[in-house]
Order: sequence, then structure tokens, then C-alpha cells
Amino acid sequence: MDEISVAKPDTASMLRVNQAGEFGATRIYDGQRAIMGNRQPISRLIARMATQEEAHRIHFDRMMAERGVRPTLLTPVWNVAGFALGAATALIGPEAAMACTAAIETEIDRHYGVQLDELGDHDPELARTITEFRAEEVEHRDTAIAAGAEDAPGFPLLSAAIRFGCRAAIALSKRI
Ligand SMILES: [Fe+2]
Ligand SMILES: [Fe+2]
Repeated sequence: MDEISVAKPDTASMLRVNQAGEFGATRIYDGQRAIMGNRQPISRLIARMATQEEAHRIHFDRMMAERGVRPTLLTPVWNVAGFALGAATALIGPEAAMACTAAIETEIDRHYGVQLDELGDHDPELARTITEFRAEEVEHRDTAIAAGAEDAPGFPLLSAAIRFGCRAAIALSKRI
């Protein structure tokens, strides 16, 4: 299986899945803000994280345009699923909304770590971008935990379900 270890990383697929994820993140926060409005104590945290996700998405949009990489065909699915996940967790309560962020960002930290390992010295522009965004995703995870994510009702099950969904979404967006 030496071919695999010397194969060039599929950077088009990486951009596609990353753009999908950042888009999904903006939709999760859209759903949470639609339910919670601006009056919850965590609203400012969410607004700040949502702004960063938007910047991440715009950056990947630009890189894809420059390189002629098409977006995932699943964008309409992530549009609805992201919003629904955000709204559902916000309806449970602020801690569940934060549990959603903590679960997602745990998976994204791992996902971006895997991509950086695969990239190695290939594509320094993409590697720099992923490194920068990954640090912000880890900040989001820590922010969410500090804001009570682990106090959400049924946290272990909720977290496991969201992490499973996130991994499935990553796997699909790489390929479709
Ligand atoms: Fe992000
Ligand atoms: Fe994030």
C-alpha cells in the first residue's frame, strides 16, 4: 500500500468538506439565534463565534473559486440540517446549545488535525488556513465548555449523537 503513503493529498476534497463544515456551522448558529434571540447571556458568545464561522466559510469559498473546486452537492441538506440542529439544541436550552458547539468542535479539531497530517508539506496555503481556523475552533469548544455545555440535560448522549452526525456529514461531504 505504498501508493497511499506517497499519494498527493486530495486538496479539492479537503476544501469541499471544509467549506461544507463552515457553512453548516453558520447555519447551526442561525438556528440557535432564531430561537434564543439576543437576550440570553450566551447570545454574545454565539454572535462572536458565528462571525468567525462566517469568515471561515468566506475564506474557503474564495479558495474554491480560485482553484475551480465545486462545492458539495449536499449544501441544501446542510442548510436545513444545520439550522434544525441549532434550533433543536437551543430549544432544549442554553447549555444544550453550548453542548452542540462543544461536540461539533471536538470533531472539527480532530478533522482538521487529520487533514494537516495528510497535507504535510503539500499546499502550505491550505495548511496555514487550516491551522489558523483549527485554533479558533478549539477556542469555540473551550468557550462552550466554560459556558456550561457539560451541564446540558443528557449531555453524554446528546454529545455522542451530535459527534456521530458530524462525522457522517464529514464523510459524505468529502465524496458528494
Ligand atoms: Fe469554523
Ligand atoms: Fe467553530
